[in-house]
Amino acid sequence: METSTIVILDFGSQYTQLIARRIREFNVFSVVLPCTVPIEQVKALSPKGIILSGGPCSVYDADSPAADPAVLDLGLPVLGICYGLQFIAHYLGGRVESAASREYGHAEVNLVRETPLFAGLPKTLDVWMSHGDHAAELPPGFERVAETSNAVAGIANEEKRIWAVQFHPEVAHTRQGMELLRNFVIGLCGAEADWTPEHFIQATVERVRAQVGSGHAICGLSGGVDSSVAAVLVAKAIGDRLTCIFVNNGVLRKDEFAKVQKTMREQLGLNVVAVDASARFLAKLAGVTDPEQKRKAIGNEFIAVFDDEAKKIFEAEKSAGEEIAWLVQGTLYPDVIESSSVKGPSQTIKSHHNVGGLPPDMKLKLIEPLRDLFKDEVRRIGRDLGMPDEIIDRQPFPGPGLAVRILGEVTPERVALLQEADEIVVAEIKAAGLYKQVWQSFAVLLPVKSVGVMGDQRTYASTCVVRAVHSEDGMTADWAPLPYEVLRRISSRIVSEVRGINRVVYDITSKPPGTIEWE
Ligand code: XMP
Repeated sequence: METSTIVILDFGSQYTQLIARRIREFNVFSVVLPCTVPIEQVKALSPKGIILSGGPCSVYDADSPAADPAVLDLGLPVLGICYGLQFIAHYLGGRVESAASREYGHAEVNLVRETPLFAGLPKTLDVWMSHGDHAAELPPGFERVAETSNAVAGIANEEKRIWAVQFHPEVAHTRQGMELLRNFVIGLCGAEADWTPEHFIQATVERVRAQVGSGHAICGLSGGVDSSVAAVLVAKAIGDRLTCIFVNNGVLRKDEFAKVQKTMREQLGLNVVAVDASARFLAKLAGVTDPEQKRKAIGNEFIAVFDDEAKKIFEAEKSAGEEIAWLVQGTLYPDVIESSSVKGPSQTIKSHHNVGGLPPDMKLKLIEPLRDLFKDEVRRIGRDLGMPDEIIDRQPFPGPGLAVRILGEVTPERVALLQEADEIVVAEIKAAGLYKQVWQSFAVLLPVKSVGVMGDQRTYASTCVVRAVHSEDGMTADWAPLPYEVLRRISSRIVSEVRGINRVVYDITSKPPGTIEWE
């Protein structure tokens, strides 16, 4: 079965991914391609329609991004958004100019002419705008279908099946944005709502089975949702020809090594090789206090350990006359888009480390079963695969683990201290029913000691930070206003139960300017 696809050409807007996610909420598949992609590549996907995204430039900028104008002649429905509207106006013979005043933020838009894009919408829309240029003259054949008090807000050429709006229907601030997108995707493009979890699972299992043939695959597990869903999908395709490697890097949460193994084997039926390499990691971390050096030490050691284990499995399979040729990775769609974006990969703030670093000399081929999915879709798939909530709803946990939450040197004693405090934070957040509401909630150990008093005794012990944030995708975050009662319980339990911590503080920094993790 051919999946209905909507192609989104990206002109560099910060909202482009959001357009794709919104469309997928209608169970319609959508792909984001850089606007400069050759037209043949667009045609090869047999899309039902094309969306031209917004972007930060003006069509008159020397280096403004341009798509092949032939996309407007494919006979497919086209929706331009913001810069997309200006691109259409400019290339089809209209005139774009700098607006006297920039429109930014909330605006009221009046729908001045009926067109199927606006079917069922009220005459006045409450929208989100963000632009400096506007269409001063429309191209031949186009009509003005919406306006603000300042400028054109929507144009249409129904014969050519091209529509464009100056505002952003994809952002939540545009109240009727979803209806407008639905009118385009379902109504005008006639896309089928066939991008369902069952369809995805079936298609992925078939593809992986065909790809791998009679070969073997290995997969690094972290215990997190991405690598677990990737492993379960691949195991569904090739059974026990998938071997998962789960490494204890010495900076996991309390009892995590045992718990994850149990869940993966008993509940998910995965074939897991568990490697306790904590001593190796902790030896590499001795004396290291610089955050980037810690990340590098853990990343490099992970590859070394993974490499050793993979080679052992490799040798065993070879002697049985079989060959491992595949490595499963839990790459998600935002990483795929980012690496091919017109803006190029963004600046490295922290060197991220994920499970499954490719051992350099093993020449494994990659299977990336999640590379078309956003994080919320991975959870949906996991749920459909029958995976337990305990894994699906897990808050993200960084690859370098507690090491980036222990400021200063990572020693076995300090890891044990943080594990105890972390367990209390998570338990109390869960008890208060907040675990799924916040993006992450955890403890951080500072290299700061302070004086306290317990009973009649003076104490001089470590400080621990509690951090809880709300976020959609980890890119930006707000500190969570946890109820005082919850903070009180966390604080009093940590100070009374964790020997070595006598003071608890709460982090009230958002991202930006802070980051979620402390290192
Ligand atoms: P920051 O601290 O950069 O974190 O605001 C953003 C999100 O990414 C997680 N994080 C990581 N995830 N490997 C990962 O897989 C890493 O090296 C890593 N570092 C940070 C962090 O927990 C947050 O959700």
